[in-house]
Amino acid sequence: MRRVTTIADLRGALDDERRRGRTIALAPTLGALHEGHLANVRIAAGHADVVVVSVFVNPTQFDRADDLAAYPRTLEADEAALRSLGADAPAYVFAPSEAEMYPSSPRTTVHVAGVTEVLEGASRPGHFDGVATVVTKLFNIVGPDVAVFGRKDFQQNVVIGRFVADLDLPVRLVLTPTVREPDGLALSSRNRRLDADGRAAAAAIPKALRAAVRAAREDRTAGRAPDPTHVRAAALATLSAVPALTVGYVEVVDPDTLAPPDPAARGGEAAGPTTPPAGREPRPLLVTVAASVDGVRLIDNVEIGDTDDEDRLLAATEAATPHQ
Ligand code: PAF
Repeated sequence: MRRVTTIADLRGALDDERRRGRTIALAPTLGALHEGHLANVRIAAGHADVVVVSVFVNPTQFDRADDLAAYPRTLEADEAALRSLGADAPAYVFAPSEAEMYPSSPRTTVHVAGVTEVLEGASRPGHFDGVATVVTKLFNIVGPDVAVFGRKDFQQNVVIGRFVADLDLPVRLVLTPTVREPDGLALSSRNRRLDADGRAAAAAIPKALRAAVRAAREDRTAGRAPDPTHVRAAALATLSAVPALTVGYVEVVDPDTLAPPDPAARGGEAAGPTTPPAGREPRPLLVTVAASVDGVRLIDNVEIGDTDDEDRLLAATEAATPHQ
C-alpha cells in the first residue's frame, strides 16, 4: 500500500497499472474510516485488480465552517485500518492536500439540478455541488473502471449517478449495503461525536426505519401496495417519541427521482392505499430520515420494495430488540 499525495504521481502510477492491463476501482472517502468504509474497500477489491482509496476532507461540500473544523483527520489511523485488510488492502491511498485539489479558488462546479434541491440539499446549500465537483475531479484524476459508494448516502448516490449518466463518464457505480452497529445504527464518522445519551437516542433512527418496513409489510399482508402515508407515519411516530432527537425530515420518495411517489406509477388512485395492476410490482419507495442529536446530524434510509434492503434492515434492528 502506497500513499500518494499529488495528482501527477497518482496519474503516473495508474497509467503504469493500466499499461499492465489492470483494472482500477476507486473508493472515495473523507477519511475517519470505520468498518463501513473497510467493507467498501473489500467490495472494491472484488471488482478490480487495483484499488485506490482517496482520503480527502473536501472543504467545498461542508456548508458550516464548524462542521468542517470538527471533521476528524486521522490519516495514520486510516492507513493502519486499510493495511489490516491484508490481501484486500488498497494498492494506493490518495491523500492530497487542499492546495493540490484546489490550487486556486475554483470557478467551475458540477451542479445537478432537481435531485440536489430536496432532502439534504434543502438544508445544506451547496453541499451537493461540492460533492459532485470533487467526485468528478476524483474520477478524472483516477480514471476508475468502477467506483464504490455506500447506500447510506442514498441522495449522494442519486446525484453521482445522474452526472455520470448526463456527462457520459465511463465509470460503473457499485452501491454497497449500509454497515450497522449491533443496535442497527448506521456506521458514520459522525457517531464518534455523540455522548452516551446521544448515542442511545440515535438508536431510534434505525428503529424508525424498521417501523416503516413493518408498516409496508402490513400493507402487503392486507393485499395492497405499501402506502407512502402509512409508511411515513410509522417512521415519524418512532422518531417523535424520542425528545433528544430533532427530526430534520422523514420522507417517502421515489428512489430514482427523490420526488414524491407518483400514485399512477404505483398503480392506484391519488388518494388512499394503492394496488398495482395485476402482475406488476409497485415502484419501490425510499424512506429517508435525517435527525440531529446534540447538533450532530445523522441520516439513514431503507428502500421499500428492495427485499434485500428491507431484510438487512430488519435483521440488523431485530437482533438487538426482538420484541419492540
Ligand atoms: O461520502 C463521502 O464520504 C464524500 O461525500 C465523498 C464521496 C468522499 C466526496 O467527498
